[in-house]
Amino acid sequence: MDYNLNNDNIEYLKFYGKTMIKIGLCGLGTVGKSFFDHLNVHKKRIASNIDQDFKLLAIADRSIEKKINNKDFILTKNPIEVAENPDIDIVVELIGDIDTSLELVTKSIKNNKQIITANKALIAKHGDEIFSQAKQNDVFIGFEASVAGAIPIIQTILKNFSNEKITSIVGIINGTSNFILDQMTNSNCEFSLALKEAQKLGYAEADPSFDINGQDAAHKISILSALAFKIKSPLDKTHIEGIEKITPMDIKYASELGYIIKHVGITEFINNSVVSRVHPVLVSNKDIFSNTPNVMNSIIVEGDRFGKTMLYGHGAGGDATASAVVADLISAINHKSNVDTSFSQMVHSSVIQDYEIMDIDDVVSQYYMRIFADDKPGVMAEITNKLAEQKISIEAVTQHEPDNNNSPIPIVMITDRVKGEHIRSAIKNIEAMPHIREKVYSIRILKNE
Ligand code: HSE
Repeated sequence: MDYNLNNDNIEYLKFYGKTMIKIGLCGLGTVGKSFFDHLNVHKKRIASNIDQDFKLLAIADRSIEKKINNKDFILTKNPIEVAENPDIDIVVELIGDIDTSLELVTKSIKNNKQIITANKALIAKHGDEIFSQAKQNDVFIGFEASVAGAIPIIQTILKNFSNEKITSIVGIINGTSNFILDQMTNSNCEFSLALKEAQKLGYAEADPSFDINGQDAAHKISILSALAFKIKSPLDKTHIEGIEKITPMDIKYASELGYIIKHVGITEFINNSVVSRVHPVLVSNKDIFSNTPNVMNSIIVEGDRFGKTMLYGHGAGGDATASAVVADLISAINHKSNVDTSFSQMVHSSVIQDYEIMDIDDVVSQYYMRIFADDKPGVMAEITNKLAEQKISIEAVTQHEPDNNNSPIPIVMITDRVKGEHIRSAIKNIEAMPHIREKVYSIRILKNE
């Protein structure tokens, strides 16, 4: 038995309310297990927030026999049985994989079940069709847990700011990347060790390359972008860079210049088009994002009238994410009993706008550049010439000691604000120089003024 889930006296088998809502839980991984425990520990508290009672009726997991053997539940390896069980009112999808989840959600909607999912890849890739099917069948789709763990960002956009014009969302939205960068910055921990620790603590995805290569953050920023600007998911046109190329050297050089390195997702409304991008950034060590340690997430939402609002909290981990699933459970129950349908109507009634998605080459930023060059006279002048050809001014330059007489010298530059296409051309020209040893690495600079 992997988990101690076969307690005989479980709270959620007791009956407190008027009518009984029956739940099917699909997926007993990190979040599924926390959700299971949360229901049990807080059953009475949850029941006091709704007019009905609820009961966990069925649990599906591909290794169900290793995880639970309690006969009070319908236990199955096949989640589709949950979608097809006529007794189940609410399906909680915590499987994670896309194909099975899509089939589960689609069948559940057809069978008029309310849905809760933490699956960001599913919503970022198939949200448009899922919301449209849900609207036709008037079922609730709760996906608060898909972005930023316990932070109620979906609710904030869809409900609290539904009457506002949002102009940008900027956030540290991958807890694992933030944890790794924080460990590398503050504990001199190696990348691979920090990743192992993040996996052990249940922060990383089943395939952690999604955390490292920016895919996970791209799913999340696409969801936020679609909701904030009422567009179709911009995932396919989202610019994606991860943290895999960041070295301890970059962290050290950035620190010498007064910066730390973070990984962010950004979506903005500029000149009637939308930007959607995820990549590392340098932020000043006085910037508000510099105080986002560990697995924490920070998100700043900006609007034309309300200014900036920042949300901060645990962005990953079983308990934090399960808390968002439980919040959705209340909304799903209220939707089913017509107590409060406003939240799901926000998704259902979104008018789809047709804004262009801006090419990353057109986005203007300041840049950090790390260049490895031979220690020869004239090399620095040649580099600055290549930048000048693209009309790029330099704000700061530092040259570091080589490891030994034969190794290249690391040169670090901070540029003024420049369009992506111009820095790209300059880097291509610098890399073509005979005395440049490695690919130039560049990181955008973010200023949360
Ligand atoms: N792997 C994700 C993260 C989990 O690290 O942010 C929460 O979505």
